[in-house]
Amino acid sequence: METKIYRMKENINKEEIEISAKEIKKGNLVVFPTETVYGVGADGLNSKAVEKIFKAKDRPSDNPLILHIESIDMLEKLVNEIPNIGRTLIKAFWPGSLTLLFKKNNCVPDIVTAGLNTVAIRMPKNNIAINLLRESETPIAAPSANISGRPSPTKAEHVERDLDGKVSVIIDGGMTDIGIESTVLDISEEVPIILRPGSVTKEEIEKVLGIEVEYDKSLICEKETPKSPGQKYRHYAPNGEMQIFIGSNKSKYKSIIELYNKYKNDGKKVGVLVTAELAELLSIKDIVILGSRNNLLEISSNLFDKLREFDKLKVDIILSEGIEEEGIGVGIMNRMKKAAGNKVNLV
Ligand code: TXA
Ligand code: MG
Repeated sequence: METKIYRMKENINKEEIEISAKEIKKGNLVVFPTETVYGVGADGLNSKAVEKIFKAKDRPSDNPLILHIESIDMLEKLVNEIPNIGRTLIKAFWPGSLTLLFKKNNCVPDIVTAGLNTVAIRMPKNNIAINLLRESETPIAAPSANISGRPSPTKAEHVERDLDGKVSVIIDGGMTDIGIESTVLDISEEVPIILRPGSVTKEEIEKVLGIEVEYDKSLICEKETPKSPGQKYRHYAPNGEMQIFIGSNKSKYKSIIELYNKYKNDGKKVGVLVTAELAELLSIKDIVILGSRNNLLEISSNLFDKLREFDKLKVDIILSEGIEEEGIGVGIMNRMKKAAGNKVNLV
């Protein structure tokens, strides 16, 4: 299949949005930017169209999708009830990077929810996404637009690498702002539970609701089975083997240098992923800088792009500095640990 690529960084091209929406209506796949990562979208009410997403991504069929909407009217068509806490959260965080789990109604196809009785829904903030949704007049089911297991795409070039020839349209809207996927919050039971941490943090949610929310057990203890099917799969993995270092500046510095030299002597190609602050201390080549510790949004925005950079550099080993697990740092570390297959060194 020939993939059409539309580039619209600053201004929306109405005509290209209309052509893209037509593809959605015809049951084809369109990749579009959101403020978190790029999504590969299909008409969320058309099972045949949604099936194409699973094929293109090589995604396990037990991993449910998020429906993207642009109006509360649309939400009301997809769920039987919007609980009060849902209304409060929507008012505070939509449009934005918070995905909410509701009890689904019958018009949501089983393929979208992988047979579960809940449906994940979010209203994105990105202008291209909103315009595409408006023009398509249907909820758009869209997972991250990467081949399953690879780092999520934050630039159109990442999408082109993974999905060129497998989708009808890719809309290039430049680099995404947040860079890690939305926070997923289950509000279908009594106590709200965060199934995936993202840029909307636990503290922010608790402040708005005035009650405590919990992390899914699997986010605290590796051995627990995640409630979100997607969380159990290997994810975000660069080709090289990755290890994370957590500790004081001095001990991280020492351990990274030591292992860097050791692997080099073993004839391995080593890459180092660190903050600007640690990079200043390290006098070695092969450093990729994540961003500044003082700007966690810069780090989240860069993370997946930097992981993909190591694939271009064809490194065997990636030694990576851990980030403080505070605010969006919780989401960043969640992705980093998955990318590293949980190889974390406390130094
Ligand atoms: O920021 C985002 O959320 C991006 C953009 C494109 O919107 N989308 C995204 O989709 O990250 P995806 O499919 O890569 O991740 C969706 C996550 C998966 O972990 C999936 O298992 C979980 O949400 N999920 C979806 N529906 C669910 C449900 N009914 N119950 C539990 N988990 C669900
Ligand atoms: Mg994904």
